This record gives sequence, C-alpha cells and structure tokens, in this order.
Amino acid sequence: MINLNYFMGKKILITGAASGLGRELAVNLCTVAERLILLDINEEGLEKTGDVCRARGSYIALYKTNLLEENPLEEIVEKEDCPDIIIANAGVGGVNPAHSFDEGIDSRIMGINYYGVVKTLSPFLKRMSERESGHIVGISSLASIRGLPGAASYSASKAALNNFLESIRLDLAPYNVKVTTVLPGFLATPMASHDEFTMPFKVTVEKSAFHVLKAVSNGKKRYAFPWVMGILSLLNKFMPIFLYDRLLPLISGQSKEMKPKIF
Ligand SMILES: NC(=O)c1ccc[n+]([C@@H]2O[C@H](COP(=O)([O-])OP(=O)(O)OC[C@H]3O[C@@H](n4cnc5c(N)ncnc54)[C@H](OP(=O)(O)O)[C@@H]3O)[C@@H](O)[C@H]2O)c1
Repeated sequence: MINLNYFMGKKILITGAASGLGRELAVNLCTVAERLILLDINEEGLEKTGDVCRARGSYIALYKTNLLEENPLEEIVEKEDCPDIIIANAGVGGVNPAHSFDEGIDSRIMGINYYGVVKTLSPFLKRMSERESGHIVGISSLASIRGLPGAASYSASKAALNNFLESIRLDLAPYNVKVTTVLPGFLATPMASHDEFTMPFKVTVEKSAFHVLKAVSNGKKRYAFPWVMGILSLLNKFMPIFLYDRLLPLISGQSKEMKPKIF
C-alpha cells in the first residue's frame, strides 16, 4: 500500500512532469503535497499536467526547464525553498547500435539521463544535509543492470545513475536524507510507444506511479518493478557471458537495420 501520509504537507519537486510517469506522479501527489514544483522541457505538456493538478485545488509551480542547459535549476533555486522530496524522473530512451553509433545521440542520452539528474540534485544536496532531512528519488531502469543490445548509451546512462545514487545514499545517510533508486521495466508511456525492440510485461502508467509511490513511502533504498522483470534482470545479471551473448540478441529482437534514435 501507498502511505500517502508520507507525502502530506511536503514540498515535492518532479522533473519530466509533462508526460508519462512524471505526470502521473504529479496527479497522484497534487492533493496531498503542500506544494508541487513541476519541471519539464515540454511546456505544453507541463501546462496540461498543471491544469489537472489545479483542477484538484493544489498549489503548484511550473518551470519550463531544459536539463541539457548549464545550471538549469537556477531560477527554481532562487524562487523556491529546498524541496522535501525530489523525484528525478525526466529522461529519454533511445537506441544507439554499435554498427551505426552516433556520438551526438550518446551525449544527449547521457546529458539528460545522467547529468540531468546530477544537475537536478546538486543544488539541493548541501541544503538537505544542513537541514538534516529530505528524500531523493531517482528513476533509473532495469536496462541498467547489464549492457543490452542496441542500448549502449541508454544502459550506460542508467548504470551511471545507479552508482551515483548509491554513493550519495551512503554519504547522505548520516544527515537523515534518504535516497531511493527505482528500476522500472517497460512502462506504457510515450517513451515506449515504438516497436524498435520487444517490450514484455509493460506496466500501465497508473500502476507504475503506484509502485514508485509505494517504494518511496516505505523508504525503499532500491526498488524494481514489475517483479517478473526484476527477477529476469537478476538472472541476466548473473548469466554467464557465453549464454548472455547468445540469448540477449534473440530475446531483444536485435536487428542489423536498427539506426540510432531517441524516443
Ligand atoms: N517508458 C519506459 O519503458 C521506461 C522504462 C524504464 C525507465 N523509464 C524511465 O522513466 C522515466 C520517465 O519516463 P517516461 O516513460 O514517463 O517517459 P516520457 O513520457 O517520455 O516522459 C519523460 C519526460 O521528460 C522530458 N524531458 C526529456 N528531455 C528533457 C530535458 N532535456 N529537460 C527536461 N525534461 C526533459 C520529456 O519531454 P519531451 O517529451 O519533450 O522529450 C518528457 O516530458 C525516465 O527516466 C525513463 O528513462 C522508462
């Protein structure tokens, strides 16, 4: 169960709130949070999320933010107090197969999925430590567990994120600041509405938000869902290389036709 009391009266910042999981999290939290600070590059989508939240009578602030820019949260840091909870959710998906590798796509994926999270969190790490309270949530991916075919850039960006979050979890624990890393499988969101590779056990956006909020309110340090994909990813992680190299290209539907692309 979600313990909604955990979010009650809190100031919560969510990135990637214009679409998919980020929007659903905002809609779920808007009636309990004291204030929602919602960020996204997509202004139109952000306004739509804002309309739904405002219709429920909540106090929200919207910021058009491009996490690829330098110091993207400057205005937010000036105008808003340090949030109680930060959900670093914004991200892009993508394929970047080695046979037609595109460095530009690689740096964009790393720039949003890894550096974008670092830029989201870094202005608040010291403040949360000094205040001795806070909760940081990073939305990673089960694609981070091992390098997947065609996904060098995406898998690497999320693996880097996992290690970053794990390190800061250790650093922040003495300051009473929690860190939760969420590892979703495939989600039925705009990011995953393509057929570049097979996506088994897709989870609806409503259920995905439920999983995330349950994990956060229960203070989980690391949480993977759906459980089937969590177990498959664990098997993947410990699979011997000779077997991994044979099975993964088959399971993923890897193809020589695949071209670099961002979703
Ligand atoms: N969908 C899946 O199957 C899946 C699986 C595992 C993990 N995840 C992770 O879950 C998180 C949420 O993804 P989602 O599925 O909800 O995707 P989504 O519907 O595409 O939402 C992601 C949001 O992030 C925004 N964004 C992209 N680049 C940005 C930037 N430079 N600055 C600020 N915002 C930016 C997107 O805006 P635009 O639409 O304008 O690009 C979009 O509104 C991501 O971190 C993703 O990696 C997703």
